[in-house]
Amino acid sequence: MSHTTVLSVDDLTVTVGTRRGPVRAVAGVSWQVRPGETFALVGESGSGKSMTLLAATGLAPRAATVTGRVRLLDTELTALPDDRRRKVRGRHVGFVFQDPMTSLNPVLPVGRQVTEAAEEHLGLTRRAARDRAVELLELVGIPSAARRVDAYPHQFSGGMRQRVAIAMALACEPDLLIADEPTTALDVTTQAQIIELVADLQARLGTAVVWVTHDLGVVAGIADTVAVMYGGRIVEQGPVDAVFDAPTHPYTRALLAARPDPSRRGEDLVAIPGSPPSPLDLPPGCAFWPRCPVRADPRCEHELPPLTTVGDGHTVRTFYRGEAG
Ligand SMILES: Nc1ncnc2c1ncn2[C@@H]1O[C@H](COP(=O)(O)OP(=O)(O)O)[C@@H](O)[C@H]1O
Ligand SMILES: [Mg+2]
Repeated sequence: MSHTTVLSVDDLTVTVGTRRGPVRAVAGVSWQVRPGETFALVGESGSGKSMTLLAATGLAPRAATVTGRVRLLDTELTALPDDRRRKVRGRHVGFVFQDPMTSLNPVLPVGRQVTEAAEEHLGLTRRAARDRAVELLELVGIPSAARRVDAYPHQFSGGMRQRVAIAMALACEPDLLIADEPTTALDVTTQAQIIELVADLQARLGTAVVWVTHDLGVVAGIADTVAVMYGGRIVEQGPVDAVFDAPTHPYTRALLAARPDPSRRGEDLVAIPGSPPSPLDLPPGCAFWPRCPVRADPRCEHELPPLTTVGDGHTVRTFYRGEAG
């Protein structure tokens, strides 16, 4: 069956109860990823990227209240009870996280782990699972996969471990791969290799990818669509070329101006003065206002800017129209 979207997130809001009061980590975000497409979610640390994806797939912490609608292929995920949602997620979504050890068990050979979930979801025998594990390790570029299949995670380098984690995420042939800062902990050379690997796998397997990063430099090379998050909201979203060629939100413009050159990829986006807002104390208007070099309109400080369309599929939440600055 063909689908127009793999994952469709509609007005998702996440409020987390904390000792200091409710924290609105995500405030009404909407986006979609289509088959074979890469959707990049970009923003500084704490902007709500991980919470968006955890909540969208039913993995938000217990203290979180999630509203909005999420559809995965033909299934309305938000309408499902936890156990059904877990099943659908396990069958259709693969996850890769910043630290591969969050998915890997240190005391199990990697081959067993790579296909553990697949054995259940695809009904593989132990023997077939082992052959499949070797195949998957080869697919992600692990040298001597037939031998390495019995090695333990600590016998791999950080980059090779991330490859194993990717193999594990792909074992159930997911329609969607969610990669949350998968290269942030890696050195520059290894980062580039992992980015290239995912792009190559995507081209071969047709998997849709959601790539979460704080590094706009990564986005340009791999994404079709990009959404920029700030203070729990998407402040600008659109086709990657449109957003890079005609960035409209002052935050996107600042991010692009602060973009490290590729040889320094992986460093934090530090060049924007000030720090991101505390979600406990979000400004009433545009959350970027306190740091904004433009402050284009008196309403910026007090009024939430409406979502405006500035191009084909290119939307922005700002009063700024590019006339000044
Ligand atoms: N388990 C949690 N409990 C309470 N607040 C959380 C939890 N996880 C994240 N948050 C809050 O939600 C906001 C968004 O966090 P997160 O989605 O992890 O940001 P990002 O992935 O963009 O760095 C942050 O302000 C963070 O403090
Ligand atoms: Mg995160």
